[in-house]
Amino acid sequence: MNTVDFDYIRNFVRDQAAIVLEPGKEYLVESRLQTLAREENLNSLDALIGKLRADPKNGLHRKVVDAMTTNETSFFRDFHPFEALRKSLLPELMARRAQERQLHFWCGAASTGQEPYSVLMLLAEHFPELLQWDFKFIATDLCGKVLARARSGRFNQLEVNRGLPAPLLVKYFVRQGAEWEFREDLRRRVEFRELNLVKDWPCLPLLDIVFLRNVMIYFDVETKKAILANARRLLRPGGYLLLGGAETTFNVDDAFERVTFDKTSCYRVKQA
Ligand SMILES: C[S@@+](CC[C@H](N)C(=O)[O-])C[C@H]1O[C@@H](n2cnc3c(N)ncnc32)[C@H](O)[C@@H]1O
Repeated sequence: MNTVDFDYIRNFVRDQAAIVLEPGKEYLVESRLQTLAREENLNSLDALIGKLRADPKNGLHRKVVDAMTTNETSFFRDFHPFEALRKSLLPELMARRAQERQLHFWCGAASTGQEPYSVLMLLAEHFPELLQWDFKFIATDLCGKVLARARSGRFNQLEVNRGLPAPLLVKYFVRQGAEWEFREDLRRRVEFRELNLVKDWPCLPLLDIVFLRNVMIYFDVETKKAILANARRLLRPGGYLLLGGAETTFNVDDAFERVTFDKTSCYRVKQA
């Protein structure tokens, strides 16, 4: 891929999704766009780029942005944050909200759904009463393709082999041919919506837990600052922000403080 085409692609991906593609990532862009070109029945990368340049409104730009997202995820990813939820965060938040019996969670980079469904399984296992509360779990992502898969609740064998303990597989999934389908009664407790973290955020309720795990790494500091400031405004007092293991609010938004639990950290808005 030549520099002019690479710059064209990386500029509009940055513009639309704030995903930073540094020089040196040409191979990545090329291989993902070749797949897209095949899906679009175009016989070369040049043909795809020609079509993009010819008409910015043909829907293809959106597909390129989707293709440039990295949707890597797994059930109970990193394990320790889920232990912190079970041992500390959920008991604390449930005690705090015992009167209103209301808790709202949001996962802002849900990918194919393993993260919200892991939380749902954890609730069903350890805090089933919470599912009788006014409990809302909104899960969003920029990429419509992964959201469609998340909504379906369908996972292949490889996906359920990653991080999901066998007893939870048999308890919470139903085999459907070669795939496993997450139980419908729990699946409908998650509301999946499209939301681009770097554009306007459509109406979200006030939140008790915000999951923004393994997505902030793709953004530059200014974008991270804007996203954290928005998240901060939505968090109720005492609410928690969960980031990925390689992500932090430190030196980005110092209105957050770090709270450490065993082998993981979460973030809370500092109280005045
Ligand atoms: C690596 S996955 C992380 C999934 C999950 N949170 C986890 O930790 O396993 C990153 C997700 O962020 C989404 N994403 C990237 N840029 C985004 C943006 N600007 N707005 C919303 N989602 C975005 C991608 O589509 C992708 O599904």
